[in-house]
Amino acid sequence: MKVITNIKGLVQASDRPLRKVCGKDMQKLSVVENAFLLFDEQTGKIVDFGSMEQWKSLSQQYAHIEETDASGRFVFPAFCDSHTHIVYAGSREIEYNDKIRGLSYEEIAKRGGGILNSVDRLRAASEDELFDAAWERLQEMCAYGTGAAEIKSGYGLDLKSELKMLRVIARLKQKSPMTIRANFLGAHAVPREYIGRQTEYVDLIVNEMIPAVAAEKLADFVDVFCDKGFFTVHDTERILEAGAKYGMKPKIHANELALSGGIQVGVKYGALSVDHLEYVGKDEIAALKDSETMPTVLPGAAFFLGMPLSPVRDMMEAGLPVALASDYNPGSSPSGNMQFVMSLGCVRYRMYPEEVVHATTINTACALGVSDSLGSIERGKTANFYITKKIPTYEYMPYSFGNNKVETVYLQGKRI
Ligand code: NIG
Ligand code: FE
Repeated sequence: MKVITNIKGLVQASDRPLRKVCGKDMQKLSVVENAFLLFDEQTGKIVDFGSMEQWKSLSQQYAHIEETDASGRFVFPAFCDSHTHIVYAGSREIEYNDKIRGLSYEEIAKRGGGILNSVDRLRAASEDELFDAAWERLQEMCAYGTGAAEIKSGYGLDLKSELKMLRVIARLKQKSPMTIRANFLGAHAVPREYIGRQTEYVDLIVNEMIPAVAAEKLADFVDVFCDKGFFTVHDTERILEAGAKYGMKPKIHANELALSGGIQVGVKYGALSVDHLEYVGKDEIAALKDSETMPTVLPGAAFFLGMPLSPVRDMMEAGLPVALASDYNPGSSPSGNMQFVMSLGCVRYRMYPEEVVHATTINTACALGVSDSLGSIERGKTANFYITKKIPTYEYMPYSFGNNKVETVYLQGKRI
């Protein structure tokens, strides 16, 4: 058993089971001042928390317990990053220049850049090279306070290369103390060899790729880039139905480039989340209202690509929850810094600090299907949390943008 004492503020601590936070409730955040946090490094679970007053009487039961003093520091639940593409080879600064010159994401893709650029490099890379590069990125994410992540395939786009990516994710799951979920994104783009034959590529995904991925149990989820210039609603339905046969839950890319119908098709197939959401109108909000699907916004991608901003305030005012994830990938968001994602949420989307905390912890845990064990400080939940450096307020976390305010990370009760 271990205890953290004299915590200036224990953030997102809950006495009742928290699974997601919606609408106006996102403006309220529970913070226990001058707090303790008791956890078991054997089971990896949170045992108790409360005020230092309460700890004084409790501490007699725990005579030789190891104590860490967190005076002047806050404790937050570790971030859950519910949308990343961290298995990739190389980087894409050439497109960065094109973007600065004013080319759009679609124009870059049409010129053979974009996703297909990363596909060429991924196909040429070995499994070990990919593993090493992705491991580095995971370590970096963790140092910024992330304790759980979803990782997608989607830069292979043929059976062999998609399996290679998913095996890398399986190895990351095995080696890392982070909670990791794998998402099969065969429908990220039409590969060069199928250009002009999109339906045949969808046939390949449905008839060969999904059964092969399922046979090796390599994917928890199935994804489709359902958007203008990429995959249609009909393609998406076929792929989600094929995934469902093997228990792969949908988590999809939707409405980044247009009102694509992606949100509605995601909701129809019980998606855990629909992600991006730059284009959201009344119909999309109405569809989400009647669902368990988590609307997930990716502020890093909109920032990097200069996209229109998702109407998060309209969604929250309609009573919806909102999640924010990093979308860490080489083309649209080369950063997995969830502290910066919070800052972007506040500055660009005018979300309140309380809202961005919910949006990057409990709501992304929900978008990952793990909010029964992660995303808040609760007795019995996994002890995934970070201790900040000395900071004045919890609002300082999004306010002080770009800097790493995390001092120590604990995952499953162990100091990393
Ligand atoms: O989530 N929008 C689609 N896919 C990725 C970008 C991938 C890339 O450009 O390499 C995204 O932003
Ligand atoms: Fe993405």
